[in-house]
Amino acid sequence: MVTIDSIRKPVLADLAAFDEFVRGNFNAEGELLQEMLVHVLSSRGKGIRPVLTMLSAAINSPHEQIDGDGCRCSKRTYLAAMLVEMIHTSSLIHDDVLDSSDTRRGRPSVNAMWQSNNAVILGDYILARTLSIGMASAQYDLVSHLGAAIATLCEGEVLQNQHAGRLDTTREDYLSIIHRKTASLLGLSASLGAMSVGADRRAVERMRRFGEALGMAFQIQDDILDYRRTADTGKPSNNDLREGKITLPLIEILERCDEAERSRIMELVRRCRDDQSAVDAVQAEVDARGGERLAAVTMRRYLERGMHYLSEYAESDCLSALLDLCAYVTERNR
Ligand code: FPP
Ligand code: MG
Repeated sequence: MVTIDSIRKPVLADLAAFDEFVRGNFNAEGELLQEMLVHVLSSRGKGIRPVLTMLSAAINSPHEQIDGDGCRCSKRTYLAAMLVEMIHTSSLIHDDVLDSSDTRRGRPSVNAMWQSNNAVILGDYILARTLSIGMASAQYDLVSHLGAAIATLCEGEVLQNQHAGRLDTTREDYLSIIHRKTASLLGLSASLGAMSVGADRRAVERMRRFGEALGMAFQIQDDILDYRRTADTGKPSNNDLREGKITLPLIEILERCDEAERSRIMELVRRCRDDQSAVDAVQAEVDARGGERLAAVTMRRYLERGMHYLSEYAESDCLSALLDLCAYVTERNR
């Protein structure tokens, strides 16, 4: 079983230095703003994006150098990782406001602690600081990608809203949503990592494609886990169904139903927002018809595509960690 710790191992010293780097860059004027920033920076989650940027930088670096502290990445790579990670952070702060979510990573969300008005401004502040730090660094080759990345996240969010509760949501619609809301930023993490060490255009593009394939698989697994029983509660969370999100395990079974079955299941889906018995009934249909297993086939296809992009690289501990990251996506249960 691959763990996130084994994936982080080759860049462990860098991750500690990166934390310092981020804290040094993100301190605010004003007591409340600073308090909210401390809360957000002390619960940054698994840090998949910075790990991806650093490992991508390492495998694309023309010569490996490890300093006395065990760090292998430059400040430029830290900057690349920070730009992406802080866009991600601000998007989650906004997402919790939009979803009225009271928790994030097992802790109270910013909106739960300080109300939505402050959370929205904090998200904006982090976004603005990220862009201004990027511009001040004058590393325009890295910074020039940020505006498009933010716009893509917003497109994904609006597309998701547009399709919420829409029972005609197709596989293509779903894939287009998750490409924008998740895969695009993982693609940017990996490509900026390569760019930060001066990799050529082909290598940067290859890493973007790798990151995007990984991101597609990552989000599909997230959506599968929403239908899976958790060790904590013994029940699936089914948050997506309650929020009207039609995700791949459901799409897979709807594609295989005849017209009458489809209408019956769709009627249940329509009632999921405020009827637990409908949620349980849809879950039972997805279980009985193998929705999770079918979605996992699509997920693995993306992972295989992703791993293919890594096949040109020489063996190294960082390459192994990236391959482990692919395995981790399938094996993770939270
Ligand atoms: C989490 O998805 C949310 C996202 C991946 C993107 C959210 C994007 C925006 C709110 C657009 C605004 C962007 C910026 C940069 C301010 P989820 O709700 O499926 O996952 P969750 O279960 O972790 O909440
Ligand atoms: Mg959410």
